[in-house]
Amino acid sequence: MIFDTHAHYDDEAFDLDRDELLKGMHKDGVAFIVNVGASMDSTQKALDLAHRYPFLYAAVGVHPSESGGLTGKDIAWLKEKAAEPKVVAIGEIGLDYYWSEPDKAIQKKWFEEQLQLAGETGLPIIVHSRDAAQDTLEILKGWRKDLTKGVIHCFSYTKEIAREYLNMDYYFGIGGVLTFKNAKKLIEAVEYIPMNRILLETDCPYLAPEPYRGKRNQSTYLDLVAERISVIKGVSKEEIFTQTVQNAKDFYF
Ligand code: NI
Repeated sequence: MIFDTHAHYDDEAFDLDRDELLKGMHKDGVAFIVNVGASMDSTQKALDLAHRYPFLYAAVGVHPSESGGLTGKDIAWLKEKAAEPKVVAIGEIGLDYYWSEPDKAIQKKWFEEQLQLAGETGLPIIVHSRDAAQDTLEILKGWRKDLTKGVIHCFSYTKEIAREYLNMDYYFGIGGVLTFKNAKKLIEAVEYIPMNRILLETDCPYLAPEPYRGKRNQSTYLDLVAERISVIKGVSKEEIFTQTVQNAKDFYF
């Protein structure tokens, strides 16, 4: 059984076969999917998908790179949607300094506005953090008491940063990147992170694992990620599935 904790099936990469693909994967053992919002538009689409498929849930939120045009009205709308029964998290939210736009101050402002929303609704957060390790950590430390739970999506930092998040009881989203040739730093982090803090995620259509790297990703490919984790942790793949499904249920439900 697979729980894909971070997917973007609203993406146009799935426009031609979304329905067929989702129904087929569910039959093939993908028991749960959380479709994560990244903009106002994709949040609406995530909600539509959650209404359509019983096994699919939604996270509402706006990605830092999409936060440039946000308004207070948008936050009020997100808050209203966050109350829907199939909404299980606020995300993805955070900081992305890989891209120079929008500027850091704007990204921080809307990150904190959405952290406030998570605090008010009691929902867990899905954090996107790229090339912004220190600022993300600092902000999340400041909000620690106001938030329930959080996951660092597509964790890409060092073991030392992982330790800081473990001290705050965070979870770690692990996906296809673990199978890439240059994954040494991430393998070290996965060796270090306890099994009960790992969530499997695709971030599909992006970040397909080897040997599908560069192609369209999908939830069934998490089998290859679980395989890799099982080698790193020295336990069976079945055990990895059982534990990560339990972790995801603890986290979202
Ligand atoms: Ni994502």
